[in-house]
Amino acid sequence: MQSINTQFDLIRQSATVAMADRILALKASGQNIIGLQVGDPDFGTHPAIADAAMKAIQNGLTHYGPSRGYPDLRTAVAKKLIRDEGITYDPASEILITHGGIHAYYLAMQSILTPGDDVLVPDPSWATHSNMAVMLRGNVIRIPAPAENGFIPFFDSWLKALTANAKTKAIVLNYPSNPTGAYPTREYLQKLQDFAKEHNLWIVSDEVYGSLFYEERPTSAAAFEGAKERTILVNSLSKSYAMTGWRVGFLAAPAQVIENALKAGQNSITCVAPFIQEAAAFALTDPAIQEVTAKMRAAYARRRELVIRLSHELESEKVKIIPPQGAFYFFLDMRALKMSSIEMCEKILDEVGVGLVPGSAFGEQGEGFIRMTIAASDEDVEAGFRKIVYWAERQ
Ligand SMILES: Cc1ncc(COP(=O)(O)O)c(C=O)c1O
Repeated sequence: MQSINTQFDLIRQSATVAMADRILALKASGQNIIGLQVGDPDFGTHPAIADAAMKAIQNGLTHYGPSRGYPDLRTAVAKKLIRDEGITYDPASEILITHGGIHAYYLAMQSILTPGDDVLVPDPSWATHSNMAVMLRGNVIRIPAPAENGFIPFFDSWLKALTANAKTKAIVLNYPSNPTGAYPTREYLQKLQDFAKEHNLWIVSDEVYGSLFYEERPTSAAAFEGAKERTILVNSLSKSYAMTGWRVGFLAAPAQVIENALKAGQNSITCVAPFIQEAAAFALTDPAIQEVTAKMRAAYARRRELVIRLSHELESEKVKIIPPQGAFYFFLDMRALKMSSIEMCEKILDEVGVGLVPGSAFGEQGEGFIRMTIAASDEDVEAGFRKIVYWAERQ
C-alpha cells in the first residue's frame, strides 16, 4: 500500500471513545448502564435557540456565509468577552467564528506552530490538547499538574521544561480543567503571563468551561495587563449553552493570528453554517437565555454538593474526591486500589454497570484516577457514585 501520514501513529485512539463504544454495545444488548462518562450537558438546547435556527433556515440562510463569521455574531462574542472577562476585542479583526471549541483550538495551533516547536501541555489534560500539537508536528512536553498541588503545575515545572535552543513556542492552558475542574489563582496566572513574556511564548487558553464555576469566578488568561498580545482564547457555546451538537465556537486573538486562522478556516471548512451562526448570536445575547444558562450551572452545583455529601456519608478510603472548582467532572482519586484506571473502568462497567473514563486518557498523572461526569441526572449521579464506592470497597 502507498505510504500514509505516520504522524498519526503517535496518537493513541481515545480511551474515551473506546469506552463509549463499549457502553453503547452493552446498552444495545439490553443492559442497564448508568452513563457517567460523557462530557455533554444532560440538558437540551433551549427551544428558543432552535427556533432562531429554524427561522434562519426559512429565511434562506442556507448558503455560504462569510468565513470570518457574521458581523452580528462577532459583535455578540466581543460583548460577551467584555461582559464576562472585562477584555476588549475588535470584532472586525480579533475574533473568528469556528466550528466549535475543538476547531478554534485547531486553528489556533495551526496558526502559530511550525514543525518541531515545543508545546507545553499540563498533565492531566483533555487529550486533544496534546494530540493536536502532535498532528501539527509539534513536540509536546507534558507538565505535571499533580493532585497534591490541586492539579496545578508547580511553577518551577514550567521553567524546567524550557529547552536550551529556544524551541518552546506555546503554553496550553485549560481552566476550569477537563478532567479535574481545577483553576489557578489570579496571582498564578499573572506569574505565568510574566513567564510567557520573558520567554516570548504564546498562551493558548481553552476556556470552554469558563462560565461553569462553583467558587470565585475564574480569570481569563487574557485579562491581564499586556496579556492580549500573546494570548489566544479558545471558546465555544457547547458546554455553557448546552449546544455541543451545533458545532459553534470562537477564537479571540491578535489580528495576525486571526488572519492565519482565517486562511486555515477558509481552506478547511469555508464557514460555519449561517443558520447556526444566527442561533449562536441569539443565544449569546438574549437575556432570557443567560438565565437558563445560570440555571444549568445551579444544577451542576447542586450535583457537586450531592457528591460531596455522599462522599462524607460513605467515608471511603478507596474513592477520594477533590471537589472541582469548575466544569462538570469529578476526578476521583482511586490510587489506593493500586489498579490501572483502564482496568478499574472496565471492571466497574462490567460488574456494576457504570460508564466512566479512565484517568490515564488524560496523561500519566491521571493514572489511578477516574473521571465521573455530573452532567447527568441527580438520580444517576447519586446511584452511580454509590455503585463506584460499593465496587471499590469490595476490592
Ligand atoms: C477542554 C475542552 N475543550 C474543548 C472541547 C470541545 O468543545 P466543542 O464541543 O466546542 O468543540 C472539549 C469537549 O469536551 C473540552 O473538554
